Amino acid sequence: ENLQSKRDIIVLIGMMGTGKSTVGGYLAAETGYRLLDLDALIAEKAGCSIPQLFEEKGETYFRDLETEVLCESLKKPGSILATGGGAVLRDYNCREMLDCGWVVALAASADEIVSRVGEDKGRPLLAGGAKERITALLEERKDAYDFAHVTVDTSGKSAEEVSAEILMHY
Ligand code: S3P
Repeated sequence: ENLQSKRDIIVLIGMMGTGKSTVGGYLAAETGYRLLDLDALIAEKAGCSIPQLFEEKGETYFRDLETEVLCESLKKPGSILATGGGAVLRDYNCREMLDCGWVVALAASADEIVSRVGEDKGRPLLAGGAKERITALLEERKDAYDFAHVTVDTSGKSAEEVSAEILMHY
């Protein structure tokens, strides 16, 4: 396999609030690649917001759409993919990411994540107490992002700094 061609697609994974979309924007500007924000593409495909999708169709329906949008995006060289925090929950998705792209995990502490996302109404999984939910999700998913080619700790760094650090590994 040719690692060089894999680098035509940079896949950002990591928990909610690690800055995937924001960092993705800087990476896109630096590389000239297009930014594909998977949550936005899912909402577009579904014709409604992510919270509405969870509420009206359920999480499995959302996850199926997520897998679909991920696989379509992985066929587009010259892209930065900002995935949703749960996109790694299916092994199939992880294998596709590793096969088609250069996978970069963004990490952050629970406290840092809580302070970044706050009581976010756009994140259905955080409904009913962000701090408790984030701590529980971090525990549940603590190894889920380990398969990445590279992991970058984002704590105390600006999105611009994180983007520059990723490009140093690139
Ligand atoms: C989710 C993360 C969200 C979004 C959905 C589910 C998750 O994306 O896909 O609310 O399971 O972690 P962000 O990581 O961009 O917040």
